[in-house]
Amino acid sequence: MAFRHFARSGRVIDKRAMKQPMVTYIDAADAPLKNTGQIRLYSKDDFAGMHKACQLTAGCLDELAAIVKPGVTTQEIDDFVYAYGTERGGIPATLNYRGYTKSSCTSINHVVCHGIPNDKPLREGDIVNIDVTYIVDGWHGDSSRMYPVGEIARKAERLLEVTYESLMIGIEAAKPGNTTGDIGAAIQTFVEGNRFSVVRDFCGHGVGKLFHDTPNILHYGRPGEGIELRPGMIFTIEPMVNTGRPHVKVLSDGWTAVTRDRSLSAQYEHSIGITEDGCEIFTLSPAGLHTPGLTIG
Ligand code: MF3
Ligand code: CO
Ligand code: CO
Repeated sequence: MAFRHFARSGRVIDKRAMKQPMVTYIDAADAPLKNTGQIRLYSKDDFAGMHKACQLTAGCLDELAAIVKPGVTTQEIDDFVYAYGTERGGIPATLNYRGYTKSSCTSINHVVCHGIPNDKPLREGDIVNIDVTYIVDGWHGDSSRMYPVGEIARKAERLLEVTYESLMIGIEAAKPGNTTGDIGAAIQTFVEGNRFSVVRDFCGHGVGKLFHDTPNILHYGRPGEGIELRPGMIFTIEPMVNTGRPHVKVLSDGWTAVTRDRSLSAQYEHSIGITEDGCEIFTLSPAGLHTPGLTIG
């Protein structure tokens, strides 16, 4: 198969194709419940299972819009996430995940992702990402949104708008025939055109029966690179966008990722499934609160 891209002399004749790693696709029903490096293709019923888990997550993120305000602690937010999910048949996937002990991630201001809920109150002007994943009947619904805390600075507001738009532009590129590189390129072009930067050290991921599965979904790249998208694939897109430089470091708690230059960072995340003619966004807000606190969305 791979030799198709070489002339008889062995010279590479299709540079684009050569940038696509060798990958195999497998019917999710035949695949073992571990990351084998193959790409699971899920069925219609599987999509229904994902939809249910993801709508629980999206419902929680909707409720949080009224809860996030100055004075509330991220631990109180986490307690709400735990109660909301478990009262409705969901289990937070992050609980005891690789030693993580909370039901959500709460990432404030220059925290890029994986902020750990604690007892410090939110302050007027903060921006906070809340990332929730519920497991329902074995399906993982993974989504996050940004929440402004009271009035925020104009630059912070623009960061949230650009980050949300970049997610939706990435989702538009998520269709059969395109590649994961088309998604990354669309996001990167839009973000950099707005003079912000895309974090390279974290990416989206296959999701479904597993929390983090093949393939990685990079939020930067070139059109045509990466893996071909096929109907039945399920993954997240979750761009992290900084007002400053893209570089991050992880704090000594082993989780909290922050911008090295302490610039502001934002992220929105959806879980999606590739269909015959595009994709289904499983984690769409039932209440239309796609961008809480903003006028766009
Ligand atoms: N929900 C995050 C994601 O989008 C993963 C959080 S894992 C944790 O992939 F352990 F940090 F909670
Ligand atoms: Co995710
Ligand atoms: Co997430």
